[in-house]
Amino acid sequence: MTRTMWDSSVGKKTVMAVSGLIMLAYLVVHMLGNLKIFFGSDEFNEYAHALRTLGEPFLHYEWALWIIRVVLVAAVVAHAVSAYQLSRRDIKARPTKYVHKKPRASYATRTMRWGGIILGLFIVWHILDLTTGTVHPGGFEAGHPYQNVIDTFSTWYGNVVYIVAVLALGLHIRHGFWSAAQTLGVGSRTRDRAFKTIANVLALVLTVGFVSVPVGVMTGVVS
Ligand code: HEM
Repeated sequence: MTRTMWDSSVGKKTVMAVSGLIMLAYLVVHMLGNLKIFFGSDEFNEYAHALRTLGEPFLHYEWALWIIRVVLVAAVVAHAVSAYQLSRRDIKARPTKYVHKKPRASYATRTMRWGGIILGLFIVWHILDLTTGTVHPGGFEAGHPYQNVIDTFSTWYGNVVYIVAVLALGLHIRHGFWSAAQTLGVGSRTRDRAFKTIANVLALVLTVGFVSVPVGVMTGVVS
């Protein structure tokens, strides 16, 4: 891509769309992996172990996991920086007549901005909770994610934080996936409608899938 392409709004929206799709692919896999919690502690903990030995014997222990982490961090940074730059550009492009009357960003834009900020904060919290154990309630045990997840969802605030974040995620994906389809060039009206349906289904499936874990612990289905 040339420099002008990077600097253009379309270039930045393309970066947002591609980085968003990378994170979405991760989330589909993560949500499916989380559902293994309904099949007991052995299966769930074995899955966490398999994530670390992925690619062996070609790769060393945890290398594949670290490659995934680097790609995800790059996607998060690219997504956030482009979003910030696009919103700065929006403000600068405002005609002067708005000086007296403060313009309001559209409902979708405001939801995406706040949703993005909530999700960014949530990801930091989530890593400190279930990956490093820094803010984990109770004794965090590396290699025993089943018990760690139960501990988290045995506190009221753990449930509130996760459920609010997952609802924000659902709304973000619903609008974001559709926007990505627009940017990457959908074309016809029929395809446009199809992408809207896919966006709604993806958002719903991910929301229900992720929320099922705290709900499972709260109702005692997972214990
Ligand atoms: C109720 C929903 C969720 C549960 C139960 C859950 C569970 C977990 C667990 C147990 C881990 C640690 C895995 C391990 O160390 O083996 C983890 C890591 C992670 N989760 Fe989630 N998660 C949930 C939702 C989410 C959401 C909504 C996002 C993103 C928006 C997310 C992003 C991540 C990331 C980035 C990691 C770090 C992977 C790493 O570097 O080790 N999770 N999750």
